[in-house]
Amino acid sequence: MVKYSSLDLKPGFIFKQYHVLVKLTVAILVIGLAFHLFYSSTSSTTNNENDTTLGVDSTVTDVTASVRAKDGDDELPTTTAIDSVEIQETPIQKQILQKEKCDLSVGEWIPDPSGPMYTYESCNVISYHQNCMKNGRPDSGFLYWRWKPRDCELPRFNAVKFLDSMRNKHWAFVGDSISRNHLQSLYCLLSKVEAANEVDHDNYNDEGYRDRRWHFPSHNFTLSVIWSPFLVKAVYSFVDMNGVSTEEIQLYLDEPDKKWTDQYMSFDYMVISAGKWFMRSATYYENGEIVGCHYCPGKNLTEYGLDNGYRKAIKLVLDFITSSNHNASVFYRSISSEHFVNGNWDSGGTCDQTSPSREGELSLGVIDEMLPNVELEAFVNLKSAEYSGKRETLKVLNITELSLLRPDGHPGPYRSYHPFAKDNNATVQYDCIPGPIDSWSDLVLEMVMNG
Ligand SMILES: *[C@@H]1O[C@H](CO)[C@@H](O)[C@H](O)[C@H]1NC(C)=O
Ligand SMILES: *[C@@H]1O[C@H](CO)[C@@H](O)[C@H](O)[C@H]1NC(C)=O
Ligand SMILES: *[C@@H]1O[C@H](CO)[C@@H](O)[C@H](O)[C@H]1NC(C)=O
Ligand SMILES: *[C@@H]1O[C@H](CO)[C@@H](O)[C@H](O)[C@H]1NC(C)=O
Ligand SMILES: *[C@@H]1O[C@H](CO)[C@@H](O)[C@H](O)[C@H]1NC(C)=O
Ligand SMILES: *[C@@H]1O[C@H](CO)[C@@H](O)[C@H](O)[C@H]1NC(C)=O
Repeated sequence: MVKYSSLDLKPGFIFKQYHVLVKLTVAILVIGLAFHLFYSSTSSTTNNENDTTLGVDSTVTDVTASVRAKDGDDELPTTTAIDSVEIQETPIQKQILQKEKCDLSVGEWIPDPSGPMYTYESCNVISYHQNCMKNGRPDSGFLYWRWKPRDCELPRFNAVKFLDSMRNKHWAFVGDSISRNHLQSLYCLLSKVEAANEVDHDNYNDEGYRDRRWHFPSHNFTLSVIWSPFLVKAVYSFVDMNGVSTEEIQLYLDEPDKKWTDQYMSFDYMVISAGKWFMRSATYYENGEIVGCHYCPGKNLTEYGLDNGYRKAIKLVLDFITSSNHNASVFYRSISSEHFVNGNWDSGGTCDQTSPSREGELSLGVIDEMLPNVELEAFVNLKSAEYSGKRETLKVLNITELSLLRPDGHPGPYRSYHPFAKDNNATVQYDCIPGPIDSWSDLVLEMVMNG
């Protein structure tokens, strides 16, 4: 009943005439009744949501039935609806606070009939090759799931709350195209609340959204994406959308990429990530000298190991952040998984699953396993004395497991036509937007709010 005042029932108009007391009494009774009805229905929702068997034992067919009912209905949650979600979730958040440490990285995907908070039609920044529904993906059941950490509830993203807590702040996404994928998902979530203006379009004018910046005027919130796929200094020439580089990559493992370090002082928050690009053929340098290479047959150079390359890069990033006298809240986003079966992107690999997997059903590929181990090792070190003092500002946004369980979230063949691609190769690196990647921001908001 304490939450009473947070309900937007605006009883003020009742006071304007005679019999104030009588009317007030009636009003209180009516509102009380309304609240009682509202509360009992929301609390039963909460119980259901708490109950992980919701819709799980009622089969996937039930989920698609509710999906079908929603098809052709573009109505998405409005601000008011989001507010009422917040009211429902208050007890859950208390629960989270009570549980000292809930590991958000382990859990399962549970059916969520409420579906995505936006559509491709409501959002104008979705890269074509991630715009699955626009590209004709026929099934939409993959949109009706949410991540449920094993030991707690994770509230769904609340754009109003996010923007309110980001007043006058600057948030940057630094990394490769998966970082951009996440940025676009967050942008779409926020754009249901406030339309953003693109900043410095001339300076940031590029088709691929590599470096862009937006401003949300009524919150004075700035959102940037910065292309830095290795996080360290890299010299390479044009790389097409399929990641095919026409010239060899040179990586300087002891120099952080100025693309992001030069702007770091202006960030209040940063989501930084890398990994995938270390799989490419590259020559590695330290102190300006070649120290080895990765995958360079015919070049009489020692194999340095992509894991060693990635390890150096993470260390460099952590050293930079912890030695800077600027305090930004940094989320290091762990690696996401790819899910090809029967081949790879260039050998007819497919991914046509239409619902999530369960824990233990899938395992990471050899390379996909190597990189998470490098990350784990780096962040175990982070807890050591070496980085004391900056622990509060540096956190791991661990989406590895939740992304592993979503082979159904990728565009697969519902990607763009691209002039550089000879065939229509399936895409499994990115998630569809909307898609499971929206849940990454559920974690982000939770970590911003509750540490
Ligand atoms: C909700 O979940 C908590 C722990 O996750 C459990 O202790 C509690 O009994 C559950 N409540 C209901 C109504 O299922
Ligand atoms: C808007 O936010 C920026 C930081 O991102 C700050 O420097 C600036 O003073 C803010 N402007 C206003 C009008 O508050
Ligand atoms: C490869 O490099 C090693 C040492 O740098 C040298 O001894 C060897 O002759 C080289 N082999 C070829 C084929 O160039
Ligand atoms: C950064 O945060 C630490 C710990 O909260 C604090 O001691 C330090 O003064 C802060 N530095 C700046 C530049 O704000
Ligand atoms: C995918 O791309 C590769 C390299 O561009 C090409 O050889 C292959 O035929 C393509 N198609 C499929 C279905 O893998
Ligand atoms: C991320 O979470 C998974 C599942 O809990 C864990 O196996 C992995 O080591 C974590 N990675 C990091 C960098 O903490």
